[in-house]
Parts: sequence; structure tokens; C-alpha cells
Amino acid sequence: MADKKFYLTTPIFYPNAKLHMGHAYTTTLSDIVVRYHRLLGEKTYFLTGSDENTQKVVQAAAAAGEEPKVFLDKIVENFKTLFSSLDISYDQFIRTSDEQAHWPGAIALWNKLQESGDLYKKEYEGLYCVGHEAFITEKDLVDGKCPDHGTVPQYIKEENYFFRLSRYTEDIRKKIIADELVVAPATRKREILSLLDEGLQDVSFSRPRTATSVGIPVPNDDSQVMYVWCDALSNYITALGYGRDDALYQEFWPVNVHVIGKDILRFHAAIWPAMLMSAGIALPKTILVHGFITSGGKKMSKTLGNVIDPEELLAEYGTDAVRYYLARYISPFEDGDITREHCKAAYNADLANGLGNLAARIMQLAQTHLSEPVAVEWKPFPKEFTDAMEKFEVNRAVEYVWQRIQALDQKITAEAPFKVVKEDAQKGKAIITELVTELAAIDLMLEPLVPQTSKKIIEAIMANKKPENLFPRKD
Ligand code: MSP
Repeated sequence: MADKKFYLTTPIFYPNAKLHMGHAYTTTLSDIVVRYHRLLGEKTYFLTGSDENTQKVVQAAAAAGEEPKVFLDKIVENFKTLFSSLDISYDQFIRTSDEQAHWPGAIALWNKLQESGDLYKKEYEGLYCVGHEAFITEKDLVDGKCPDHGTVPQYIKEENYFFRLSRYTEDIRKKIIADELVVAPATRKREILSLLDEGLQDVSFSRPRTATSVGIPVPNDDSQVMYVWCDALSNYITALGYGRDDALYQEFWPVNVHVIGKDILRFHAAIWPAMLMSAGIALPKTILVHGFITSGGKKMSKTLGNVIDPEELLAEYGTDAVRYYLARYISPFEDGDITREHCKAAYNADLANGLGNLAARIMQLAQTHLSEPVAVEWKPFPKEFTDAMEKFEVNRAVEYVWQRIQALDQKITAEAPFKVVKEDAQKGKAIITELVTELAAIDLMLEPLVPQTSKKIIEAIMANKKPENLFPRKD
């Protein structure tokens, strides 16, 4: 098991604004999956980062009246602070503006596509949506505007390099059907297959340098810079040193899991595999596609006043409570909802009265009646837990752990060790030892989900001491 490797990536985030709850979800889900694999003893590598060579960012910096670099550095710092507040255990944060870390690999990959004859220059006319950082078609528009961003797209007529995506439709289809490239869940697999059934059109892979002030220069053509998605997708290999110093690349590619949201499925399950095929690089093993987070059933928006800011939520409830909520109440496969009311109710019921209370009850008994700490052994995870985690059904894994918590609570009530210990000390102590042993088994499953709490509980067990109040009730 020790030499098994596990490489997981999040999307790289646009640093045009602070991260929101949806971004916090993608990253927390990713972190839970990685921590689980790390606990299994696998060699893990966890990549996240920022997607910086984009017009969106330039526009946002201008609106803030700042130099792009100053603006970017600030936002990226803010991303990292949020990730640290969420206890995201990433190994690397890649920035696509990084000319040392990212650009050589992006250029090397471009050259491979060129060598395969998959890039050609063509005059192009179309509508560009900066919000999407993509060309969109007339039929996508509602009242002349992009329905997702509410903005009028730019009409563009220019020369671009095109990537022969059409050439790879059939090969990608076969790989996805055969699960050589797993697209999970099945609904997303069907979605991408139906898109592939329609056939893929070649895509623009560069923009004239005059059209955008940022971008990686196209090799041997000063007039063009790489299109942001071509540049961004390559981060998954450039971060490992592809085209530069490829020790990590050799060790960790192909990636085990790309975690993405449903809006960027086409880029990851069609364009990216085609680029890799063209360059003769192995395909990702799994693309895990989650849904969108809403609040009160609606997209969060300032106008509706239903925005829940991850920083505020963290300040109010703490790292583990936010992770817990996201893990348990947002399905990794469908759209999910979060409201302040539900957060509070879940916190009080599941964490304060549930886990917190259970750990306190058991450790109070242990501290009072046992003369030394219970020796805990590492036991393999139960099948219910591993099954759910292997399928990325993190919410189901959490439900299972909370069933065990409930069962343990019931065991205390049913066996009443606090009474037994007075009549038959030996018997009472034996029950308490069983309770502590079960608490330790539960605690190991808590590590990927609520790492700080898991650590506090195991430390309490090892010191044979009641832990501090883990989750004070909120009124
Ligand atoms: N920069 C691109 C990704 C490039 S990856 C090579 C991008 N960035 S993003 O910042 O707009 O989005 C990052 C991730 O957040 C995406 O996976 C997206 O699906 C996810 N989400 C954005 N809004 C979301 C919700 N409301 N809910 C859940 N996830 C959401 O796309």
C-alpha cells in the first residue's frame, strides 16, 4: 500500500474576486478525499491554484484602480487565508502567472499539439463572453445577453489558432464509455456522452496579442497569446514540472481525480483529454463533477440578500463545523443548499448535542473511573465507510459515522456504566473501556472530515482526560 499514489486537483480559481461558498465546497470536498487517501497510507499530492491570465482579472483590477499584479497578489493571499481557515491540506498552489513554474510546461504542451498537426490558423468571427472566458453562440443568448453573466458578449473577428478537437471525439467517447476515463456521477457521464454524440467542433486556442493584455505567448508567433482555457488546463501537468523538471510528473501523472463543478465539464471531459491524446500523454483516471450551491433554493446574490460568505461562516462556527456542514448536507453529485438557519440547527443537533456531547460524556467517565488511558489500536476502516469514500459519496460516509455516534450514545444509556461502576467496579470499567475504544474507532473516521476535532479527541483519549468543550451550543 505504501507505494500507491494519489494525485488530486481542484480547478484553479479566477482571482477576480474573493472566493465564495461554491469554491469553498469544491476545495473542502477535495481535501476530504485527499485526507482519506493519505490516512490509507497512500502517497498523496494535492494541487490547487489560481487562473490568472484572463481578461476578467485585468478588468477587475482596473475596476479596483490597482495594478494587475498588486491586485492579484492580494486576492491570492486572500485565497490562501481562506484555505488555511478551512484546513485545506494542499501540497502546491500553482499560479498561472508564474513564468517559472507554469509557462515552460504550457509552452511544451503547445509544441506537442503543434507537432501532432493539431493546431492551425484561421480567421474567426464570433461572440466572446468574458464571464465564461469562452466563445458562445447566438442561440445561447437571452435578450442578446449571456444568460449566466447578464452581459452582452463582445463581437470578435480575428485570427486564431484552432485546436483540432473534432479529431478526438470518437476516441474520447470510447474511453468514457469504457470507464477508462471515469466521469462521475453517471448523470454527468451521460451529459458528456450526449455532447460527444453531437460531435465536437474545433476550438479557438489563441487570441491576438492585441485583443488581450495578458496571456502566455504562442511559441514562434509573436502576434498570438494562448487562449485562457488552453493555458489553464495545462496547470494540472505544469505544476508537476512537465516540460521543466519532471520528477513529480513521473511520479504522479496520470492524475487520479480532477474535482470540478458542473459548469466546466466540457473543458475537462472533452478539451483536456483531447489535448492529452494529441500530446501522447495518459488521460486522467476520474473526473468528479459536483453540483452548485444555492441558498434557500436560489443562486446566492446580493440583490436577494442570501449570500453566505465562507469567511463569515468560519468566524461564527469554526473550521470543523463548516467542513462538517459541507460534507454532510451538500451532495457531491447534485446541487446543494445552505442557509444560516440550517447551519445553526445542524451545528446544535449534530455537533454540540451529538459528537461534542458524546466525547465529553465518555471521557468524563474515563477520567473519573479509569486509572490510565485506554490503549487504542489502529483498526482498518469499516466497509460502509470505505465504500462510500471510494465512490466519493462523502455525505453517505458522514451519515454512517453519525450513525455510529448515535449508537454509541445509546450504548451509554442502555448499559449505564455510571451506575454499574458503583456496584461492580470491574464490570463498569470494562464498559467504559469499550466506550473509549469505540470513540477512538469513530475518531479515525473523523480525521478527513473534521481534522481539528479528531485531533482533540484522540489527544483526550491518550491523556485520559475530558476534552475542552468541542462545540459550545449556539443560541
Ligand atoms: N478558472 C476556471 C477553472 C479552470 S480549471 C483548469 C473556473 N474558475 S472559477 O473560479 O470560476 O470556478 C472554480 C470552481 O468553482 C468551478 O469548479 C466551479 O464549478 C465552481 N463553482 C462556481 N460556482 C459554484 C457554486 N455556486 N457552487 C459550487 N461550485 C461552484 O471556472
